[in-house]
Amino acid sequence: MARPDPHSYNDSTQPETETLDWKARVDFRTRRLHAEATLTLKEASAGPLDLDTRDLEILRVVDGNGRPLPYMLAPPEPILGSRLRVELPQGVRQLTVHYRTSPTASALQWLTPSQTAGGQHPFLYSQCQAIHARSLVPLQDTPRIRIRYRASLRVPKALKAVMAASFVGREEHGVEAEEHYEMPQPVPPYLLAFAVGSLAPKELGPRSRVWAEPELLEDAAEEFSGVDDMLRAAESLFGPYDWERFDLLTMPPSFPYGGMENPRLTFLTPTLIAGDKSLVNVVAHELAHSWTGNLVTNASAEHFWLNEGFTVFAERRILEALAGKEVAALHGALGRRALEEAMHHFREHPHLTALRTHLTGVDPDEAFSQIPYEKGYLFLRALEDAVGRETFDGFLRRYLATYRFRALTTEEFIAFTERELPGALAKVDADAYLQRPGIPGGAPSPRSSRLEALLRLRGTVPSKDAVKDWTPAEWQLFLEWLPSDAPRDLFRQLDERFELTQSRNSEVLVAWLVAALRAGWEPAVARTEVFLGEVGRMKYLKPLYGVLSASREHKPLARSLFQKNAERYHPIARQGVELILSRA
Ligand code: BES
Ligand code: ZN
Repeated sequence: MARPDPHSYNDSTQPETETLDWKARVDFRTRRLHAEATLTLKEASAGPLDLDTRDLEILRVVDGNGRPLPYMLAPPEPILGSRLRVELPQGVRQLTVHYRTSPTASALQWLTPSQTAGGQHPFLYSQCQAIHARSLVPLQDTPRIRIRYRASLRVPKALKAVMAASFVGREEHGVEAEEHYEMPQPVPPYLLAFAVGSLAPKELGPRSRVWAEPELLEDAAEEFSGVDDMLRAAESLFGPYDWERFDLLTMPPSFPYGGMENPRLTFLTPTLIAGDKSLVNVVAHELAHSWTGNLVTNASAEHFWLNEGFTVFAERRILEALAGKEVAALHGALGRRALEEAMHHFREHPHLTALRTHLTGVDPDEAFSQIPYEKGYLFLRALEDAVGRETFDGFLRRYLATYRFRALTTEEFIAFTERELPGALAKVDADAYLQRPGIPGGAPSPRSSRLEALLRLRGTVPSKDAVKDWTPAEWQLFLEWLPSDAPRDLFRQLDERFELTQSRNSEVLVAWLVAALRAGWEPAVARTEVFLGEVGRMKYLKPLYGVLSASREHKPLARSLFQKNAERYHPIARQGVELILSRA
Protein backbone atom coordinates (compact mmCIF):
# COMPACT_ATOMS: atom_id res chain seq x y z
CA MET A 1 0.00 0.00 0.00
CA ALA A 2 1.22 3.47 -0.82
CA ARG A 3 -0.56 6.62 0.24
CA PRO A 4 1.36 9.53 -1.29
CA ASP A 5 -1.10 12.26 -0.16
CA PRO A 6 -1.54 12.58 3.62
CA HIS A 7 -5.02 13.99 3.02
CA SER A 8 -6.39 11.17 0.89
CA TYR A 9 -7.09 7.47 1.26
CA ASN A 10 -5.92 7.08 -2.32
CA ASP A 11 -3.57 4.13 -2.69
CA SER A 12 -1.28 4.79 -5.63
CA THR A 13 -1.03 1.08 -6.46
CA GLN A 14 -4.73 1.07 -7.35
CA PRO A 15 -6.13 2.20 -10.72
CA GLU A 16 -6.79 5.91 -11.18
CA THR A 17 -10.08 7.47 -12.17
CA GLU A 18 -10.21 8.78 -15.72
CA THR A 19 -13.71 10.25 -15.91
CA LEU A 20 -16.58 11.07 -13.62
CA ASP A 21 -20.23 11.13 -14.62
CA TRP A 22 -22.16 12.95 -11.94
CA LYS A 23 -25.90 13.38 -11.62
CA ALA A 24 -27.36 15.23 -8.68
CA ARG A 25 -30.76 16.50 -7.67
CA VAL A 26 -30.56 19.59 -5.45
CA ASP A 27 -33.12 19.49 -2.67
CA PHE A 28 -33.29 22.86 -0.90
CA ARG A 29 -35.90 21.55 1.53
CA THR A 30 -33.76 18.80 3.06
CA ARG A 31 -30.44 20.45 2.11
CA ARG A 32 -29.24 17.32 0.43
CA LEU A 33 -27.99 16.27 -2.98
CA HIS A 34 -29.49 12.98 -4.16
CA ALA A 35 -26.80 11.77 -6.45
CA GLU A 36 -25.06 9.11 -8.42
CA ALA A 37 -21.43 9.13 -9.41
CA THR A 38 -20.05 6.87 -12.12
CA LEU A 39 -16.29 6.52 -12.08
CA THR A 40 -14.52 5.09 -15.10
CA LEU A 41 -11.02 3.91 -14.31
CA LYS A 42 -7.97 4.15 -16.54
CA GLU A 43 -7.64 0.39 -16.39
CA ALA A 44 -9.44 -2.62 -14.96
CA SER A 45 -7.66 -4.25 -12.07
CA ALA A 46 -9.24 -6.74 -9.69
CA GLY A 47 -9.00 -5.84 -6.00
CA PRO A 48 -9.91 -3.03 -3.65
CA LEU A 49 -10.48 0.55 -4.79
CA ASP A 50 -10.27 3.15 -2.02
CA LEU A 51 -12.28 6.35 -2.37
CA ASP A 52 -12.51 9.41 -0.15
CA THR A 53 -15.89 10.36 1.29
CA ARG A 54 -17.13 12.61 4.06
CA ASP A 55 -20.59 12.41 5.59
CA LEU A 56 -22.00 10.63 2.53
CA GLU A 57 -24.86 8.20 2.90
CA ILE A 58 -24.00 5.39 0.53
CA LEU A 59 -27.09 3.59 -0.82
CA ARG A 60 -25.52 1.09 -3.22
CA VAL A 61 -22.56 0.49 -5.49
CA VAL A 62 -22.97 -1.25 -8.85
CA ASP A 63 -20.79 -2.11 -11.83
CA GLY A 64 -21.32 -0.92 -15.43
CA ASN A 65 -24.02 -3.53 -15.90
CA GLY A 66 -25.92 -2.64 -12.76
CA ARG A 67 -24.65 -5.62 -10.76
CA PRO A 68 -24.04 -4.85 -7.09
CA LEU A 69 -20.42 -4.58 -5.96
CA PRO A 70 -19.33 -5.32 -2.39
CA TYR A 71 -18.15 -2.27 -0.45
CA MET A 72 -17.24 -1.16 3.05
CA LEU A 73 -17.56 2.33 4.47
CA ALA A 74 -15.01 2.79 7.27
CA PRO A 75 -15.74 4.86 10.38
CA PRO A 76 -14.90 8.54 9.83
CA GLU A 77 -11.58 10.09 10.75
CA PRO A 78 -11.73 13.75 11.79
CA ILE A 79 -9.62 15.22 8.96
CA LEU A 80 -9.86 12.62 6.21
CA GLY A 81 -13.46 11.49 6.46
CA SER A 82 -14.45 7.89 5.69
CA ARG A 83 -12.69 5.52 3.36
CA LEU A 84 -15.08 3.83 0.96
CA ARG A 85 -13.52 0.57 -0.17
CA VAL A 86 -15.13 -1.08 -3.17
CA GLU A 87 -14.08 -4.61 -4.18
CA LEU A 88 -13.62 -4.71 -7.93
CA PRO A 89 -13.93 -8.07 -9.64
CA GLN A 90 -11.76 -9.01 -12.63
CA GLY A 91 -12.42 -6.89 -15.71
CA VAL A 92 -14.54 -4.17 -14.09
CA ARG A 93 -13.52 -0.65 -15.12
CA GLN A 94 -16.63 1.22 -14.18
CA LEU A 95 -18.62 1.63 -10.99
CA THR A 96 -21.60 3.73 -9.97
CA VAL A 97 -22.19 4.88 -6.40
CA HIS A 98 -25.75 5.86 -5.47
CA TYR A 99 -25.71 8.13 -2.44
CA ARG A 100 -26.88 11.30 -0.83
CA THR A 101 -24.95 14.12 0.79
CA SER A 102 -25.38 15.38 4.33
CA PRO A 103 -27.13 18.67 5.15
CA THR A 104 -23.81 19.64 6.76
CA ALA A 105 -21.62 18.62 3.79
CA SER A 106 -18.40 20.59 4.32
CA ALA A 107 -18.20 21.68 0.66
CA LEU A 108 -21.62 23.27 0.59
CA GLN A 109 -23.20 26.41 1.87
CA TRP A 110 -26.99 26.57 1.70
CA LEU A 111 -28.36 30.10 1.95
CA THR A 112 -31.90 31.14 2.75
CA PRO A 113 -33.50 33.83 0.55
CA SER A 114 -32.83 36.46 3.24
CA GLN A 115 -29.10 35.77 2.93
CA THR A 116 -29.06 36.80 -0.74
CA ALA A 117 -29.14 40.23 -2.41
CA GLY A 118 -32.56 39.64 -3.99
CA GLY A 119 -34.14 38.11 -0.92
CA GLN A 120 -36.54 35.96 -3.00
CA HIS A 121 -34.69 32.74 -3.79
CA PRO A 122 -32.39 30.38 -1.92
CA PHE A 123 -28.78 29.96 -3.01
CA LEU A 124 -26.36 27.05 -2.90
CA TYR A 125 -22.69 26.90 -3.75
CA SER A 126 -19.73 24.59 -3.38
CA GLN A 127 -16.17 25.30 -2.23
CA CYS A 128 -14.04 22.16 -2.54
CA GLN A 129 -10.45 23.28 -2.00
CA ALA A 130 -8.56 21.76 -0.29
CA ILE A 131 -10.30 18.49 0.68
CA HIS A 132 -14.05 19.05 0.60
CA ALA A 133 -14.90 17.50 -2.78
CA ARG A 134 -15.28 14.20 -0.93
CA SER A 135 -18.33 15.56 0.89
CA LEU A 136 -20.01 15.97 -2.53
CA VAL A 137 -18.78 12.99 -4.53
CA PRO A 138 -17.04 9.75 -3.53
CA LEU A 139 -13.74 9.96 -5.41
CA GLN A 140 -9.96 9.90 -5.24
CA ASP A 141 -9.74 13.34 -3.64
CA THR A 142 -6.11 14.12 -4.30
CA PRO A 143 -4.80 16.70 -6.78
CA ARG A 144 -2.43 14.08 -8.20
CA ILE A 145 -5.36 12.42 -9.93
CA ARG A 146 -7.03 14.56 -12.58
CA ILE A 147 -10.45 13.76 -13.94
CA ARG A 148 -12.58 14.80 -16.88
CA TYR A 149 -16.24 14.96 -16.00
CA ARG A 150 -19.79 15.32 -17.15
CA ALA A 151 -22.40 16.56 -14.73
CA SER A 152 -26.10 17.23 -14.64
CA LEU A 153 -27.81 19.13 -11.89
CA ARG A 154 -31.55 19.07 -11.29
CA VAL A 155 -32.71 22.30 -9.66
CA PRO A 156 -35.97 24.22 -9.10
CA LYS A 157 -37.06 25.75 -12.42
CA ALA A 158 -36.84 29.34 -11.11
CA LEU A 159 -33.11 28.91 -10.51
CA LYS A 160 -30.02 28.73 -12.67
CA ALA A 161 -27.26 26.19 -12.08
CA VAL A 162 -23.76 27.27 -13.13
CA MET A 163 -20.67 25.08 -13.08
CA ALA A 164 -16.95 25.52 -13.49
CA ALA A 165 -17.24 23.62 -16.75
CA SER A 166 -18.59 23.98 -20.27
CA PHE A 167 -22.36 24.47 -20.58
CA VAL A 168 -24.11 21.79 -22.64
CA GLY A 169 -27.81 22.54 -22.23
CA ARG A 170 -30.85 23.00 -20.02
CA GLU A 171 -34.12 21.09 -20.10
CA GLU A 172 -37.20 21.79 -18.09
CA HIS A 173 -39.33 19.00 -16.63
CA GLY A 174 -42.36 20.19 -14.65
CA VAL A 175 -41.22 22.25 -11.70
CA GLU A 176 -37.57 21.37 -12.22
CA ALA A 177 -34.82 22.12 -14.69
CA GLU A 178 -31.86 19.93 -15.52
CA GLU A 179 -28.64 21.64 -16.48
CA HIS A 180 -25.87 19.74 -18.25
CA TYR A 181 -22.18 20.53 -18.15
CA GLU A 182 -18.96 18.91 -19.21
CA MET A 183 -15.34 19.48 -18.33
CA PRO A 184 -13.21 18.29 -21.23
CA GLN A 185 -9.87 19.24 -19.66
CA PRO A 186 -8.72 16.98 -16.83
CA VAL A 187 -8.85 18.78 -13.47
CA PRO A 188 -7.92 17.95 -9.88
CA PRO A 189 -11.04 17.18 -7.81
CA TYR A 190 -10.74 20.34 -5.72
CA LEU A 191 -11.72 22.30 -8.83
CA LEU A 192 -15.15 20.70 -9.08
CA ALA A 193 -17.55 23.60 -8.47
CA PHE A 194 -21.10 24.77 -8.97
CA ALA A 195 -23.62 27.29 -7.72
CA VAL A 196 -27.42 27.44 -7.87
CA GLY A 197 -29.48 30.57 -7.44
CA SER A 198 -31.23 33.46 -9.08
CA LEU A 199 -28.38 34.30 -11.44
CA ALA A 200 -28.15 36.36 -14.61
CA PRO A 201 -25.25 36.83 -17.06
CA LYS A 202 -23.74 39.88 -18.68
CA GLU A 203 -21.12 39.80 -21.43
CA LEU A 204 -17.74 41.35 -20.64
CA GLY A 205 -15.78 40.34 -23.73
CA PRO A 206 -15.41 37.62 -26.35
CA ARG A 207 -14.33 35.04 -23.78
CA SER A 208 -15.91 36.35 -20.59
CA ARG A 209 -19.19 37.06 -18.95
CA VAL A 210 -20.07 37.79 -15.36
CA TRP A 211 -22.85 36.03 -13.46
CA ALA A 212 -24.52 37.63 -10.47
CA GLU A 213 -27.83 38.03 -8.80
CA PRO A 214 -29.74 40.51 -11.00
CA GLU A 215 -29.56 43.15 -8.24
CA LEU A 216 -25.75 43.14 -8.39
CA LEU A 217 -25.22 42.48 -12.07
CA GLU A 218 -24.65 46.02 -13.39
CA ASP A 219 -22.20 46.97 -10.65
CA ALA A 220 -20.34 43.69 -11.03
CA ALA A 221 -20.11 44.10 -14.81
CA GLU A 222 -18.73 47.61 -14.39
CA GLU A 223 -16.17 46.56 -11.77
CA PHE A 224 -14.90 43.63 -13.82
CA SER A 225 -15.11 45.23 -17.26
CA GLY A 226 -11.32 45.09 -17.66
CA VAL A 227 -11.18 41.32 -17.64
CA ASP A 228 -10.50 40.90 -21.34
CA ASP A 229 -7.45 43.19 -21.19
CA MET A 230 -6.30 41.14 -18.25
CA LEU A 231 -6.67 37.88 -20.17
CA ARG A 232 -4.62 39.22 -23.04
CA ALA A 233 -1.92 40.57 -20.71
CA ALA A 234 -1.73 37.18 -18.99
CA GLU A 235 -1.48 35.31 -22.29
CA SER A 236 1.39 37.46 -23.43
CA LEU A 237 3.22 36.64 -20.21
CA PHE A 238 2.42 32.94 -19.75
CA GLY A 239 1.29 31.62 -23.13
CA PRO A 240 -2.12 30.75 -24.59
CA TYR A 241 -5.09 30.43 -22.24
CA ASP A 242 -6.07 26.75 -22.22
CA TRP A 243 -9.58 26.89 -20.78
CA GLU A 244 -11.50 28.60 -23.59
CA ARG A 245 -13.66 30.80 -21.38
CA PHE A 246 -12.92 32.91 -18.31
CA ASP A 247 -16.29 33.68 -16.73
CA LEU A 248 -16.82 35.24 -13.32
CA LEU A 249 -19.40 34.49 -10.67
CA THR A 250 -20.19 37.12 -8.04
CA MET A 251 -20.86 35.20 -4.86
CA PRO A 252 -23.10 36.04 -1.91
CA PRO A 253 -21.33 38.07 0.83
CA SER A 254 -20.82 34.99 3.02
CA PHE A 255 -18.35 33.48 0.50
CA PRO A 256 -15.34 32.79 2.76
CA TYR A 257 -12.59 33.67 0.23
CA GLY A 258 -11.69 36.63 -1.92
CA GLY A 259 -11.71 34.45 -4.96
CA MET A 260 -11.57 30.82 -6.00
CA GLU A 261 -10.02 29.83 -9.29
CA ASN A 262 -12.69 27.37 -10.41
CA PRO A 263 -11.79 26.65 -14.03
CA ARG A 264 -13.79 28.61 -16.65
CA LEU A 265 -15.79 30.22 -13.83
CA THR A 266 -13.89 32.07 -11.12
CA PHE A 267 -15.87 32.65 -7.92
CA LEU A 268 -15.46 36.15 -6.45
CA THR A 269 -16.51 37.81 -3.21
CA PRO A 270 -18.88 40.76 -3.74
CA THR A 271 -16.57 42.81 -1.48
CA LEU A 272 -14.44 43.36 -4.61
CA ILE A 273 -17.14 45.67 -5.95
CA ALA A 274 -15.59 48.89 -4.65
CA GLY A 275 -16.82 51.05 -7.52
CA ASP A 276 -13.33 51.95 -8.77
CA LYS A 277 -11.77 48.65 -9.94
CA SER A 278 -9.19 48.99 -7.18
CA LEU A 279 -9.51 45.38 -6.00
CA VAL A 280 -9.26 43.61 -9.34
CA ASN A 281 -5.85 42.24 -8.43
CA VAL A 282 -7.93 39.38 -7.00
CA VAL A 283 -9.31 38.73 -10.49
CA ALA A 284 -5.74 38.82 -11.83
CA HIS A 285 -4.80 36.31 -9.14
CA GLU A 286 -7.58 33.86 -9.98
CA LEU A 287 -6.87 34.26 -13.69
CA ALA A 288 -3.19 33.53 -13.06
CA HIS A 289 -4.21 30.21 -11.48
CA SER A 290 -5.33 29.15 -14.98
CA TRP A 291 -1.61 28.51 -15.50
CA THR A 292 -0.20 28.09 -12.00
CA GLY A 293 -2.49 25.77 -10.06
CA ASN A 294 -5.08 24.63 -12.56
CA LEU A 295 -2.64 23.66 -15.32
CA VAL A 296 0.39 22.94 -13.10
CA THR A 297 -0.89 21.70 -9.78
CA ASN A 298 0.56 21.04 -6.33
CA ALA A 299 0.74 17.29 -5.65
CA SER A 300 -0.78 17.75 -2.18
CA ALA A 301 -1.46 20.44 0.43
CA GLU A 302 2.15 19.98 1.59
CA HIS A 303 3.23 21.71 -1.63
CA PHE A 304 0.53 24.37 -1.63
CA TRP A 305 3.12 27.11 -2.17
CA LEU A 306 3.61 25.79 -5.73
CA ASN A 307 0.01 26.87 -6.39
CA GLU A 308 -0.15 30.08 -4.44
CA GLY A 309 3.43 31.41 -4.46
CA PHE A 310 3.62 31.10 -8.25
CA THR A 311 0.17 32.63 -8.56
CA VAL A 312 1.00 35.68 -6.47
CA PHE A 313 4.13 36.09 -8.55
CA ALA A 314 2.06 35.82 -11.75
CA GLU A 315 -0.66 38.12 -10.35
CA ARG A 316 1.90 40.88 -9.72
CA ARG A 317 3.38 40.42 -13.18
CA ILE A 318 -0.09 40.92 -14.69
CA LEU A 319 -0.58 43.95 -12.46
CA GLU A 320 2.76 45.36 -13.51
CA ALA A 321 1.89 44.88 -17.19
CA LEU A 322 -1.47 46.64 -16.78
CA ALA A 323 -0.82 49.29 -14.13
CA GLY A 324 2.96 49.67 -13.93
CA LYS A 325 5.82 48.88 -11.60
CA GLU A 326 4.79 51.31 -8.87
CA VAL A 327 1.40 49.66 -8.41
CA ALA A 328 2.95 46.20 -8.40
CA ALA A 329 5.43 47.38 -5.75
CA LEU A 330 2.60 48.68 -3.55
CA HIS A 331 1.00 45.25 -3.71
CA GLY A 332 4.38 43.70 -2.94
CA ALA A 333 4.57 45.89 0.17
CA LEU A 334 1.06 44.85 1.24
CA GLY A 335 2.14 41.25 0.79
CA ARG A 336 5.23 41.79 2.90
CA ARG A 337 3.06 43.19 5.72
CA ALA A 338 0.73 40.21 5.49
CA LEU A 339 3.72 37.87 5.61
CA GLU A 340 5.12 39.49 8.76
CA GLU A 341 1.69 39.26 10.35
CA ALA A 342 1.44 35.56 9.47
CA MET A 343 4.93 34.85 10.82
CA HIS A 344 3.87 36.41 14.09
CA HIS A 345 0.65 34.43 14.13
CA PHE A 346 2.50 31.12 13.59
CA ARG A 347 5.35 31.94 15.98
CA GLU A 348 4.54 28.87 18.03
CA HIS A 349 4.27 26.65 14.97
CA PRO A 350 7.47 27.56 13.10
CA HIS A 351 7.35 24.36 11.05
CA LEU A 352 4.28 25.77 9.26
CA THR A 353 6.33 28.77 8.10
CA ALA A 354 8.60 26.80 5.75
CA LEU A 355 7.20 26.56 2.22
CA ARG A 356 7.49 22.78 2.12
CA THR A 357 5.19 21.63 4.93
CA HIS A 358 4.57 18.27 6.57
CA LEU A 359 0.87 17.93 7.22
CA THR A 360 0.15 14.39 8.35
CA GLY A 361 -2.52 14.85 11.00
CA VAL A 362 -3.00 18.55 10.17
CA ASP A 363 -6.17 19.89 8.56
CA PRO A 364 -5.20 21.97 5.50
CA ASP A 365 -7.84 24.56 6.45
CA GLU A 366 -6.01 25.07 9.74
CA ALA A 367 -2.57 25.24 8.15
CA PHE A 368 -3.83 27.87 5.68
CA SER A 369 -2.00 31.19 5.89
CA GLN A 370 -0.37 33.90 3.81
CA ILE A 371 2.99 32.14 4.10
CA PRO A 372 2.79 29.97 0.96
CA TYR A 373 1.55 33.07 -0.88
CA GLU A 374 3.99 35.72 0.21
CA LYS A 375 7.07 33.73 1.17
CA GLY A 376 6.55 31.82 -2.08
CA TYR A 377 6.37 35.12 -3.93
CA LEU A 378 9.61 36.35 -2.32
CA PHE A 379 11.35 33.10 -3.20
CA LEU A 380 10.38 33.39 -6.89
CA ARG A 381 11.33 37.08 -6.89
CA ALA A 382 14.70 36.16 -5.44
CA LEU A 383 15.20 33.61 -8.24
CA GLU A 384 14.11 36.16 -10.82
CA ASP A 385 16.53 38.74 -9.42
CA ALA A 386 19.33 36.16 -9.38
CA VAL A 387 19.04 35.07 -13.02
CA GLY A 388 17.48 38.17 -14.60
CA ARG A 389 13.95 38.64 -15.87
CA GLU A 390 14.47 37.32 -19.37
CA THR A 391 16.03 34.08 -18.22
CA PHE A 392 13.41 33.67 -15.53
CA ASP A 393 10.56 34.20 -18.00
CA GLY A 394 12.00 31.47 -20.19
CA PHE A 395 12.26 29.21 -17.16
CA LEU A 396 8.64 29.91 -16.25
CA ARG A 397 7.47 29.03 -19.77
CA ARG A 398 9.40 25.76 -19.72
CA TYR A 399 8.07 24.94 -16.25
CA LEU A 400 4.51 25.45 -17.46
CA ALA A 401 5.11 23.46 -20.65
CA THR A 402 6.76 20.58 -18.79
CA TYR A 403 4.15 20.12 -16.09
CA ARG A 404 0.96 21.17 -17.86
CA PHE A 405 -2.02 19.07 -16.79
CA ARG A 406 0.17 17.44 -14.16
CA ALA A 407 0.88 17.75 -10.45
CA LEU A 408 4.29 18.07 -8.84
CA THR A 409 6.02 18.15 -5.47
CA THR A 410 8.53 20.66 -4.09
CA GLU A 411 11.23 18.01 -4.57
CA GLU A 412 10.36 17.72 -8.27
CA PHE A 413 10.40 21.50 -8.50
CA ILE A 414 13.89 21.56 -6.99
CA ALA A 415 15.19 18.94 -9.43
CA PHE A 416 13.64 20.79 -12.39
CA THR A 417 15.07 24.16 -11.31
CA GLU A 418 18.51 22.70 -10.67
CA ARG A 419 18.50 21.37 -14.24
CA GLU A 420 17.09 24.50 -15.84
CA LEU A 421 18.84 27.20 -13.79
CA PRO A 422 22.02 25.55 -12.54
CA GLY A 423 23.34 27.18 -9.37
CA ALA A 424 20.38 29.55 -8.92
CA LEU A 425 18.88 27.70 -5.96
CA ALA A 426 22.15 27.84 -4.04
CA LYS A 427 22.61 31.50 -4.94
CA VAL A 428 19.32 32.52 -3.28
CA ASP A 429 19.69 30.00 -0.44
CA ALA A 430 16.55 28.14 -1.51
CA ASP A 431 16.59 26.01 1.64
CA ALA A 432 15.95 29.11 3.73
CA TYR A 433 12.65 29.52 1.88
CA LEU A 434 11.66 25.93 1.28
CA GLN A 435 12.79 24.07 4.37
CA ARG A 436 13.44 26.61 7.12
CA PRO A 437 11.05 28.80 9.13
CA GLY A 438 10.86 32.59 9.04
CA ILE A 439 11.62 35.26 6.45
CA PRO A 440 15.08 34.79 4.93
CA GLY A 441 17.44 37.70 5.65
CA GLY A 442 18.30 38.24 2.01
CA ALA A 443 14.68 38.29 0.79
CA PRO A 444 13.95 40.95 -1.84
CA SER A 445 12.11 44.00 -0.57
CA PRO A 446 9.80 46.09 -2.72
CA ARG A 447 11.13 49.54 -3.58
CA SER A 448 9.33 52.44 -5.17
CA SER A 449 9.11 56.20 -4.88
CA ARG A 450 5.44 56.02 -3.87
CA LEU A 451 6.37 53.67 -1.04
CA GLU A 452 9.05 56.04 0.17
CA ALA A 453 6.66 58.99 0.07
CA LEU A 454 4.21 56.94 2.08
CA LEU A 455 6.77 55.98 4.68
CA ARG A 456 7.58 59.63 5.29
CA LEU A 457 3.96 60.22 6.33
CA ARG A 458 3.83 57.26 8.70
CA GLY A 459 1.85 58.06 11.85
CA THR A 460 0.92 61.62 10.82
CA VAL A 461 -2.37 63.19 9.81
CA PRO A 462 -1.53 64.04 6.21
CA SER A 463 -2.97 67.08 4.43
CA LYS A 464 -5.75 66.51 1.91
CA ASP A 465 -3.33 67.61 -0.74
CA ALA A 466 -0.74 65.00 0.25
CA VAL A 467 -3.20 62.15 -0.29
CA LYS A 468 -5.04 63.38 -3.35
CA ASP A 469 -3.40 60.81 -5.67
CA TRP A 470 -3.43 57.92 -3.25
CA THR A 471 -4.78 54.64 -4.48
CA PRO A 472 -6.68 52.42 -2.03
CA ALA A 473 -3.54 50.28 -1.77
CA GLU A 474 -1.68 53.31 -0.42
CA TRP A 475 -4.43 54.00 2.08
CA GLN A 476 -4.31 50.42 3.20
CA LEU A 477 -0.54 50.54 3.66
CA PHE A 478 -0.71 53.84 5.49
CA LEU A 479 -3.25 52.36 7.90
CA GLU A 480 -1.45 49.06 8.37
CA TRP A 481 1.72 50.99 9.11
CA LEU A 482 0.18 53.11 11.84
CA PRO A 483 2.32 52.69 14.97
CA SER A 484 0.73 50.25 17.40
CA ASP A 485 0.82 52.93 20.12
CA ALA A 486 -0.89 55.59 18.00
CA PRO A 487 -3.10 57.74 20.25
CA ARG A 488 -6.88 57.65 19.97
CA ASP A 489 -6.99 61.27 18.98
CA LEU A 490 -5.09 60.47 15.80
CA PHE A 491 -8.01 58.28 14.75
CA ARG A 492 -10.51 61.01 15.45
CA GLN A 493 -8.51 63.44 13.31
CA LEU A 494 -8.00 60.96 10.49
CA ASP A 495 -11.68 60.11 10.40
CA GLU A 496 -12.74 63.73 10.51
CA ARG A 497 -10.57 64.54 7.56
CA PHE A 498 -10.93 61.39 5.45
CA GLU A 499 -14.17 59.66 6.54
CA LEU A 500 -12.49 56.28 6.69
CA THR A 501 -15.31 54.69 8.67
CA GLN A 502 -17.43 55.30 5.55
CA SER A 503 -14.94 53.76 3.11
CA ARG A 504 -16.53 51.70 0.31
CA ASN A 505 -13.29 49.83 -0.18
CA SER A 506 -13.38 46.74 2.02
CA GLU A 507 -9.59 46.47 2.28
CA VAL A 508 -9.23 50.07 3.41
CA LEU A 509 -12.20 49.77 5.73
CA VAL A 510 -10.89 46.65 7.46
CA ALA A 511 -7.36 48.05 7.80
CA TRP A 512 -8.91 51.16 9.35
CA LEU A 513 -11.22 49.29 11.71
CA VAL A 514 -8.48 46.94 12.90
CA ALA A 515 -6.09 49.82 13.67
CA ALA A 516 -8.80 51.93 15.30
CA LEU A 517 -10.11 49.07 17.44
CA ARG A 518 -6.60 48.22 18.53
CA ALA A 519 -6.16 51.81 19.70
CA GLY A 520 -9.49 51.68 21.53
CA TRP A 521 -11.18 54.30 19.35
CA GLU A 522 -14.85 53.60 20.20
CA PRO A 523 -16.62 54.93 17.07
CA ALA A 524 -15.07 52.00 15.14
CA VAL A 525 -17.11 49.49 17.11
CA ALA A 526 -20.52 50.20 15.61
CA ARG A 527 -19.22 50.00 12.02
CA THR A 528 -17.46 46.74 12.85
CA GLU A 529 -20.68 45.28 14.23
CA VAL A 530 -22.55 46.06 11.02
CA PHE A 531 -19.72 44.80 8.82
CA LEU A 532 -19.44 41.48 10.67
CA GLY A 533 -23.16 40.98 10.15
CA GLU A 534 -22.85 41.45 6.39
CA VAL A 535 -19.61 39.92 5.22
CA GLY A 536 -18.28 36.38 5.70
CA ARG A 537 -14.89 36.68 4.02
CA MET A 538 -12.36 35.02 6.33
CA LYS A 539 -9.62 37.50 5.50
CA TYR A 540 -11.76 40.11 7.28
CA LEU A 541 -13.44 38.03 9.95
CA LYS A 542 -10.20 36.76 11.43
CA PRO A 543 -8.49 40.11 12.13
CA LEU A 544 -11.70 41.81 13.23
CA TYR A 545 -12.75 39.07 15.64
CA GLY A 546 -9.09 38.78 16.63
CA VAL A 547 -8.70 42.43 17.59
CA LEU A 548 -12.06 42.55 19.38
CA SER A 549 -11.35 39.47 21.42
CA ALA A 550 -7.84 40.68 22.30
CA SER A 551 -9.36 43.57 24.23
CA ARG A 552 -10.74 42.80 27.67
CA GLU A 553 -13.48 45.31 27.09
CA HIS A 554 -14.66 43.94 23.75
CA LYS A 555 -14.21 40.23 24.26
CA PRO A 556 -17.86 39.74 25.32
CA LEU A 557 -18.96 41.68 22.25
CA ALA A 558 -16.84 39.44 20.01
CA ARG A 559 -18.56 36.40 21.46
CA SER A 560 -22.06 37.78 21.21
CA LEU A 561 -21.52 39.01 17.64
CA PHE A 562 -20.24 35.61 16.67
CA GLN A 563 -23.23 33.94 18.23
CA LYS A 564 -25.54 36.18 16.30
CA ASN A 565 -23.72 35.84 12.96
CA ALA A 566 -22.33 32.29 13.01
CA GLU A 567 -25.41 30.95 11.25
CA ARG A 568 -24.66 33.20 8.29
CA TYR A 569 -20.98 32.32 7.96
CA HIS A 570 -19.63 29.49 5.84
CA PRO A 571 -18.72 26.44 7.98
CA ILE A 572 -14.99 26.91 7.27
CA ALA A 573 -15.17 30.55 8.33
CA ARG A 574 -17.16 29.59 11.40
CA GLN A 575 -14.46 27.10 12.36
CA GLY A 576 -11.73 29.70 11.80
CA VAL A 577 -13.41 32.30 14.03
CA GLU A 578 -14.23 29.72 16.70
CA LEU A 579 -10.52 28.92 16.92
CA ILE A 580 -9.66 32.59 17.38
CA LEU A 581 -12.29 33.07 20.09
CA SER A 582 -11.27 29.91 21.91
CA ARG A 583 -7.63 31.06 22.05
CA ALA A 584 -8.42 34.58 23.20
N1 BES B 1 -7.33 29.11 -4.15
C1 BES B 1 -7.37 30.25 -3.31
C2 BES B 1 -8.44 30.19 -2.26
C3 BES B 1 -8.37 28.98 -1.37
C4 BES B 1 -7.17 28.53 -0.86
C5 BES B 1 -9.52 28.30 -1.04
C6 BES B 1 -7.13 27.40 -0.05
C7 BES B 1 -9.46 27.18 -0.24
C8 BES B 1 -8.27 26.73 0.27
C9 BES B 1 -7.52 31.54 -4.12
O1 BES B 1 -6.84 31.53 -5.33
C10 BES B 1 -6.91 32.66 -3.32
O2 BES B 1 -5.75 32.57 -3.06
N2 BES B 1 -7.67 33.68 -3.00
C11 BES B 1 -7.18 34.84 -2.28
C12 BES B 1 -6.99 35.96 -3.26
C13 BES B 1 -5.75 36.72 -3.18
C14 BES B 1 -4.50 36.11 -2.73
C15 BES B 1 -5.58 37.78 -4.21
C16 BES B 1 -8.21 35.22 -1.23
O3 BES B 1 -9.25 34.55 -1.16
O4 BES B 1 -8.01 36.15 -0.49
ZN1 ZN C 1 -4.73 31.64 -5.07
